[in-house]
Amino acid sequence: MQEVKVSAPGKIILFGEHAVVYNRPAIAVPVTQVQVEVTITPLEKSSPNTVIIQSPNIGLESELKDLLEHHPIKVALMGVCRKLNIAEIPPCSICIHSTIPVASGLGSGAAVSVALIRAVSAFCERPLSDAEVNELAYEVEKIHHLTPSGIDNSVITYEKPIFFIKGEPFSTLEVGKPFWVIIGDTRISSPTAITVSEVRQAWEAARLTYERIFDQIRDVVLQAKEAIETGEVEKLGGLMNRNHEFLRQINVSSPELERIIEAALKAGALGAKLSGSGRGGNMIALVHEHESKPIAEAMQKAGAMRTTLTRIG
Ligand code: MEV
Repeated sequence: MQEVKVSAPGKIILFGEHAVVYNRPAIAVPVTQVQVEVTITPLEKSSPNTVIIQSPNIGLESELKDLLEHHPIKVALMGVCRKLNIAEIPPCSICIHSTIPVASGLGSGAAVSVALIRAVSAFCERPLSDAEVNELAYEVEKIHHLTPSGIDNSVITYEKPIFFIKGEPFSTLEVGKPFWVIIGDTRISSPTAITVSEVRQAWEAARLTYERIFDQIRDVVLQAKEAIETGEVEKLGGLMNRNHEFLRQINVSSPELERIIEAALKAGALGAKLSGSGRGGNMIALVHEHESKPIAEAMQKAGAMRTTLTRIG
């Protein structure tokens, strides 16, 4: 067995979060400025079934056998064993390092799963295909929250902009003209499971209203898809603002997100919205690259603890 190192990027949702859980389309892109890196080192001299897991970011140091059955890391590793038809992983130490903030809308959970599944299958000298990695990572997503659309694991597995509808094969999005987005982090952690389940309760209480909003989000996403493909970047700003208005209506924004979004727009962003499950986490602002610096500064002044400029396409 040889040492293996595998990384996976973060992600942002450009359009369609939440509505995507209700079978409307959404658009997501990978973010390579943040990464999860998994290193697996063989432990030749230890007892046969020793697998040590270390994840300094979440303060985890444990043997695999001591993790709870439903721990996402255990579910990911057991999934690989099942897929490869092996009883256990050869003795090794698995170290997970991440620069993706947890519960922030940047896909940290899915990135850990994807990197872990790829690394372990490679360590066992039987690397899984992208489709197999994606399928296993989706199973782990169900532990994080009960009704995941599957968009996070898909965009992170394939590392390409995607147009996604739950339960259907996704398509890769061709970007007609590259564009720039600043990601602004509120540093307020907001677990997806909670937001998604609150949206579900609200949907159950007022289905007609929510279905109407989700339909309107779908229309925005379809227009955004066309604008991205044809390179009509200016159109995307207005569409982001509209999408954010619908996210406000389903009550997933927060005062912190609103402050940063308002500051970005005032400083000249073409459009802005929350990204991911909301209530905290990250927002995105569409910008011209040459205007990005003052906009990022305005976002920081309004409370963004970190801003990241990312090019799409
Ligand atoms: C989370 O990144 C996106 C949500 O739409 C949930 C999901 O798609 O599973 C809020």
